[in-house]
Amino acid sequence: MEKRTAESFEKLPRHVAVIMDGNGRWAKKHRLSVPRGHRQGTETLREIIRHTDDLGIGALSLYAFSTENWSRSEEEVGALMQLILDFFASEIDELDERNVRILILGEKDRLPQRQRETLEEAERRTGNNTGLRLNIAINYGGRAELARAARMIAEKVKSGALAAEEIGEETLAAHLYTAGQPDVDLLIRTSGEMRLSNFLLYQCAYAEFVFPETLWPDFTVADYDRALDVFAHRQRRFGGR
Ligand code: FPP
Repeated sequence: MEKRTAESFEKLPRHVAVIMDGNGRWAKKHRLSVPRGHRQGTETLREIIRHTDDLGIGALSLYAFSTENWSRSEEEVGALMQLILDFFASEIDELDERNVRILILGEKDRLPQRQRETLEEAERRTGNNTGLRLNIAINYGGRAELARAARMIAEKVKSGALAAEEIGEETLAAHLYTAGQPDVDLLIRTSGEMRLSNFLLYQCAYAEFVFPETLWPDFTVADYDRALDVFAHRQRRFGGR
């Protein structure tokens, strides 16, 4: 299939966020295990990252593991943790070559040591890259991110580095994991679910939402291009007329 280029879109988002939903249902539909569904989902992830980079979109945020996902079975959590290791082992060279800069959104401290080290190494290795900003949310929650920002700001006020009256929206934005990146322009959630599920609450304030019915493992580059087209034809008013 012919892959579309940036010029074929009337406009492109600067920052796309994706909630990769439907791995479990895909597995069930194919009478496979849920971990197998997540593995298939990782294949989709690879294609979507490559295509996003090829299109020259500035930032891509992916919801890989929420703070609530710990409540899933030990088997499923273990499989997701293993997939994280596998993903970085197989992709890091290509991502680095592509000049992609990786950032992990979320609390890495609660992760097993190997995962934590792998993620930190990926961030360190790609930290000076200047291409696509690839944000991967792992042990992430939007409210926890806001609470963390509030704590950092409070510390600055306490130490006298910042006056309370000076705190504005930008102060908050500057203390989020995504500091320095544009707000989310387009949020895609696959599998027909229409919820934000605590993902990038602040950053999605003016995002356009697109909810394709496709389950994440079946989601193709063509489906992605369709979502980008929907975005290109939406009228964004940001509260104006
Ligand atoms: C939601 O599907 C998906 C997840 C909870 C995990 C998404 C993770 C991956 C695609 C791969 C791992 C990530 C990396 C970075 C390697 P679900 O299981 O909730 O689906 P369901 O609603 O159909 O049950």
